[in-house]
Amino acid sequence: MKRVLVATGGGDCPGLNAVIRAVVKRASQEPDWEVIGSIQSFDGILREPTEIKVLDEKAVAGIHVQGGTIIGTTNKGGPFAWPVKNKDGSWGAVDRSDEMIRKLQYLGIDAVISIGGDGSQRISQQLYEKGLNIIGVPKTIDNDLSATDFTFGFQTAVQIATEAVDKLVTTAASHNRVLILEVMGRYAGWIALHAAIAGGAEVCLIPEIPYDIHKVADRLQSRYNKGKGHAIVVVAEGAVPKDGHLVSAESDEVGYHNLRLGGIAHKITRDLKSIGFEADIRETVLGHLQRGGIPVAYDRVLATQFGVKAFEMVLEGKFGEMVAYRHPDIISVPLIDAINRPNFVDPECDLVRTARGVGISFGD
Ligand code: F6P
Repeated sequence: MKRVLVATGGGDCPGLNAVIRAVVKRASQEPDWEVIGSIQSFDGILREPTEIKVLDEKAVAGIHVQGGTIIGTTNKGGPFAWPVKNKDGSWGAVDRSDEMIRKLQYLGIDAVISIGGDGSQRISQQLYEKGLNIIGVPKTIDNDLSATDFTFGFQTAVQIATEAVDKLVTTAASHNRVLILEVMGRYAGWIALHAAIAGGAEVCLIPEIPYDIHKVADRLQSRYNKGKGHAIVVVAEGAVPKDGHLVSAESDEVGYHNLRLGGIAHKITRDLKSIGFEADIRETVLGHLQRGGIPVAYDRVLATQFGVKAFEMVLEGKFGEMVAYRHPDIISVPLIDAINRPNFVDPECDLVRTARGVGISFGD
């Protein structure tokens, strides 16, 4: 019996379960292959007792419809930086990668499929360099990897963000308010840009096009001057002002590029008020709602394609490579190339031109 281990790492993402199911269903067509899931990324391998789960067709029946991941995930630590408590109570990290590889051998694992974002794929590359037979499957709602045209989870996040805009429009119009919607995306503006176009926002602020708060205020004011006393602003969590710091006195609280703390929508509200923009402004931070619930059909299909391809790459021995989508094909690319090539919105791209063409301001 040959064994392939599947692990899901990093933040959860709609479509993870569809990948797992596809790996299992494809593997079941081959004689002598068993799929094992490691619980909470590679942590399950390193824990004592080991936390793994046999994934047969029964275990994955119908899971392509479910969000999250049935084998759990984590975005803390990993085999190269396993968290340990120091004697003084502080936290440190130790490298347990050799131990993990030995344990995988002991468990009779012939190959590993690591489904995760750029952090997880960096770990995959390091493990590959140590001799592990590993294949990567890219995962992120942010769509910020250029090795693949799209990542699964992105279309679901865009759909959820767009539905949020649709809902906010009615309140904005009824109350003559400016409603600011903060969406995810890390350092990329893809979710914000798509949701702003699909939802018909007036302003879209993304990290790739630094904004000037005065220009944002001018665009909003022009809406009010035209008698349309309401507006929607979609802001990506990583958006940055042109001068790199805030107008308001409390600016340091949030901080330039410190998106982990969140609060860009709040910062924009404060800054608009501080320069005298008088309309009623409210903020909504969509947060993890964008990663929750059932994946849209597109993400289920892409995730299924990735899962089938990943197992076929195991059969072909294409280790050290990652599954990718290049329309219309599902291909494999070296992990090392994939992890070093982020995908950001080109300010001159057609999508930005389209947005400008329908009057969306980027505040630049
Ligand atoms: O990378 C996916 C993502 O959802 C980003 O859009 C966001 O910045 C981040 O993860 C949030 O991570 P966490 O779930 O750890 O707060």
